[in-house]
Amino acid sequence: MDQLDNIRAEALAQVAQAQSLEALEAARVATLGKKGSVSALMASLGKMSPDERKTAGAQLNAVKDQVAEAIATAKAALEAKALEEKLARERVDVTLPVRPESQGRIHPIAQVMDEMVAIFAQMGFEVAEGPDIEDDFHNFTALNIPAEHPARQMHDTFYFGEKDDGSRHLLRTHTSPVQIRTMLANKPPIRIIAPGRTYRCDSDMTHTPMFHQIEGLVIDKTTHMGHLKGTLMEFVTTFFEVDEVPVRFRPSFFPFTEPSAEVDIGCSREGGELRIGKGASWLEIGGSGMVHPNVLRACGLDPDEYQGFAFGMGVERMAMLKYGIPDLRTFFDSDLRWLKHYGFVPLDVPTLSGGLTR
Ligand code: PHE
Repeated sequence: MDQLDNIRAEALAQVAQAQSLEALEAARVATLGKKGSVSALMASLGKMSPDERKTAGAQLNAVKDQVAEAIATAKAALEAKALEEKLARERVDVTLPVRPESQGRIHPIAQVMDEMVAIFAQMGFEVAEGPDIEDDFHNFTALNIPAEHPARQMHDTFYFGEKDDGSRHLLRTHTSPVQIRTMLANKPPIRIIAPGRTYRCDSDMTHTPMFHQIEGLVIDKTTHMGHLKGTLMEFVTTFFEVDEVPVRFRPSFFPFTEPSAEVDIGCSREGGELRIGKGASWLEIGGSGMVHPNVLRACGLDPDEYQGFAFGMGVERMAMLKYGIPDLRTFFDSDLRWLKHYGFVPLDVPTLSGGLTR
């Protein structure tokens, strides 16, 4: 059947010539489509005798399958070519800015510690660090707290096991041992702050076994209590971004300072809302005093030549006051919902230059 061979050859040529998916589709319509050449032959089957139809029908079906297969093969090849061209065309531009994505948060303790460090750094303080695991000398004895001194009971200390010589290491109960390490290693003038973890065997509504302090120490020849008060006043007005914050010294006792004072700042509690600044109430933010002569002596400094002040503040307490966090224990719950609420977006944290409040 010559006609059939012709049509097949023509249809396969049409398919082979198609250079694009659109051209291929046109070839499909022209051959297998309703009015296509192969379909037209199918229609002619009706006019044949049953015997003719049997052989012609089988042949026709074979042609139809052959053309359909050629179209499928050509289609797959054209699609692969189109994909390759697309991949070559659409390169990734790595210089484009990143899309905003959900980020982690900075914990309020880390944030507040950074803020406090930035403020003291601007005043000329350097950051000093010391180990969390301390010995008795640095945590107590050199700070004028000898063995059997009642002040040792004030600190509920975590002790490690006893060594052969009877001594025990401990988790530092305050950041004050960093004072000692700094004075032993450096000559005055000294102007440091020591931020870090501290530990006490204590756990209730307002105490966690681990918490954070920032200690400040200034040693020089003419340093006096006025400098201490001025430093703290400068700190609190900057930290809370309030023009005027009254600072009050309340007489107190620490073995390592004399005189010693608890530091209170002014606030108001009108309408149940706490506001730092001028007001009828006071809030305690830390301890302070002039470094005790015995402490200077323990560090090899002559108290007749040098004097200075020290202060210590709780970081959690400052974070609670500044950012309105009501419960201390939530700081260490590792609750992601809490962190999402109270945490800080890494590229949008409060800074000295950009503003310290949110
Ligand atoms: N080290 C004291 C404490 O943890 C705080 C303090 C530091 C007091 C420096 C006075 C001077 O309780």
